[in-house]
Parts: sequence; structure tokens; C-alpha cells
Amino acid sequence: GAASSLQHACEPSTYSDGDYADVDWDNLGFGLLPTDYMYRMKCFKDGKFEQGQLSRYGNIELSPSAGVLNYGQGLFEGTKAYRKENGCLLLFRPDQNAIQMKIGAERMCMPSPSIDQFVDAVKQTALANKRWAPPPGKGTLYIRPLLMGTGPVLGLAPAPEYTFLVYASPVGNYFKEGLAPLNLYVEDEYHRASRGGAGCVKTISNYAPVLKAITKAKNRGFSDVLYLDSLNKKYLEEVSSCNIFIVKGNVISTPATNGTILSGVTRKSIIEIAQDLGYEVEERVISVDELVNVDEVFCTGTAVVIAPVGSITYQDKRIEYRTGAYSLSRKLYSTLVGIQMGLIEDKKGWTLEI
Ligand code: COI
Repeated sequence: GAASSLQHACEPSTYSDGDYADVDWDNLGFGLLPTDYMYRMKCFKDGKFEQGQLSRYGNIELSPSAGVLNYGQGLFEGTKAYRKENGCLLLFRPDQNAIQMKIGAERMCMPSPSIDQFVDAVKQTALANKRWAPPPGKGTLYIRPLLMGTGPVLGLAPAPEYTFLVYASPVGNYFKEGLAPLNLYVEDEYHRASRGGAGCVKTISNYAPVLKAITKAKNRGFSDVLYLDSLNKKYLEEVSSCNIFIVKGNVISTPATNGTILSGVTRKSIIEIAQDLGYEVEERVISVDELVNVDEVFCTGTAVVIAPVGSITYQDKRIEYRTGAYSLSRKLYSTLVGIQMGLIEDKKGWTLEI
């Protein structure tokens, strides 16, 4: 794929303690740790991005009437760099994030960087912040590309100028539960997206509206929220920051993408990995009523990786699922992370060593 065509040799080196940033690597969560550099590239009216460059990480100056601030014209992506034992970094399918951003930009009336520009920016940001990439097994360097309307608007219209920005932060597990199973709450009052909306792209404006539902669920002791379709309040969509899969016997199912669900890079990768391992994978409409009759449930996402779900609560009924060492989600997790860390041979050309 596009990732392998950009492959260039990394000089293996031993990385010693003094080469690392001063971080408590054993206690990483998913909070921001500011790193050294960010990458920035501007795009003016002609739709072409100028040559981008790295600068010190720090605050940016924005017009009070920037499109992103006033009307939410913005997109983000998330991708991770894993540090290998040989000192090199491994990126995982950054070209897929580039494609996702392109599709999102089209929906949000924004110009987008080319696949090569995107991947190059991710690469430069990862390498410039290499000392912040956790030691193997301790976490990853999370890379956050942003595309936003930074030009001024007052009337509702696409902004006249755009900025593509990439920053990074070392991260550990996304949920405070660590790798322990999640307890999800099925929300039927607040919805995440509706048909014809922008639920299938990673616009920043999909995320603030779910904070209310997350807060409600967390106050009741749940880990996160599982959303239902807004029309029937009956079919599974996704979790606030990740996709959802159910397992029954040898069949793995996940909600089909119909315009309201994000087609995440981890979701796509897990579908392929599961098929390669001999499982049947279905992308289809899944009714909330099916949840009483499945063996296993898990979530996928770049930030989340693969998180086992121990229980789901729907209308005061709690349903429990298989988790643990012999679960399918554990097997899929080991395979995916094995590829991402460079421990399992990458037959698909998904990783990019830098
Ligand atoms: C990711 O998985 O990278 C995401 O973008 C989810 C985000 C809400 C943390």
C-alpha cells in the first residue's frame, strides 16, 4: 500500500536512558504530555498546501472569527508510533488516516493534504519527538493530526484559509480501567449522529455533543456509552471514542457503516485480521435486543486499541460477557498489537518503519 512505498531505512540504534524524555513511563494514561515539536502547514484560497514545517510545540494564534472556532469547521485523526527494540519507530497504516481525513474534508468543505503530505507530516512529527516515544511495551507516541478552518468568517461559509497541524503525546491505556473489561451503558436519550449528518467522518463537532452522555454514564459508575441509531433507537452504532463488535460462536459482527458510524482504521484492520484467522465477519444492522444473546463484546479504536466489554446495561438490565485470557478479543488484541509493535511479521505492508 501507500505506507510501504514510502518505506525508508531506519538506522537501528540502542537507545539509552539518557536519550529519553523525563517521563514516568510506568504510569502513562491518556492525558496530554506536551512534547517538543509540532508540524504546521497552511492552505490558502487556491486549495494548495504550502510547504509545511516543524516548530516548537506551543500555543497557536487564531482569529476570533476563525471558521473552526465559530462554526466547528475542523477534523482530527489519531495514529500511533510504537518504539521497537532496535530503536526505530513503527507507524501503523498512516495512509488510512490520510484517506479518512480526505473523505472528511470533502464532507466539511475543506481542502485536505495529499496522502504523501499527510504521511510525511506524521513521520516528521514522530521523529522530531522521538525521545517522547515510550520504551517498548510501556505505551505509544500518540500522533494527532488536525485540519481546521483558520481563516476568518462571520456569515456561515467555508473559511478562506486552512491549517493542517500535527502534534504528539506519549500515551498508555485509554480507559482508567487499563486493560480491565469495560462496563458500557446503552444511551437512548442522547444520540451521537443521524442519517445525513457527519457521523461517518472525524469532525471535531461529533465529539463535544457526547460529553453529556459520557458524564451521565460515568456518574452512574459506567466506563462509557454505547449509542443507538437516532431514528429507531434500536440499532447499535458506536461507543463515544471507538467502534463496537459482538461475537457469537465463530461469527463476529459489527454495525455496518451507513453514514452515521466511523469506519475506523482499527475497525477495518480487525475485520481483516479476524477473517485471516478464519472467523466469519459480518458488517450488518445489529439490534440492541441481540445483546442478550452474544458471547463476547469488544471495542476497537486507535486510542482504545481493543478493549474487552465485561457488561452492557440497557434499560436497567445488565448483561455480562466472556472476557479474559481465552477470549477472542484477547487473541485479536495480541495479533494486532504484535503487528503494530513489529513482533509479528507484517504480511500486509501495514507498518512503516521510520
Ligand atoms: C482515536 O482513537 O484515536 C480517537 O480519535 C478517539 C479520540 C476521541 C480519543
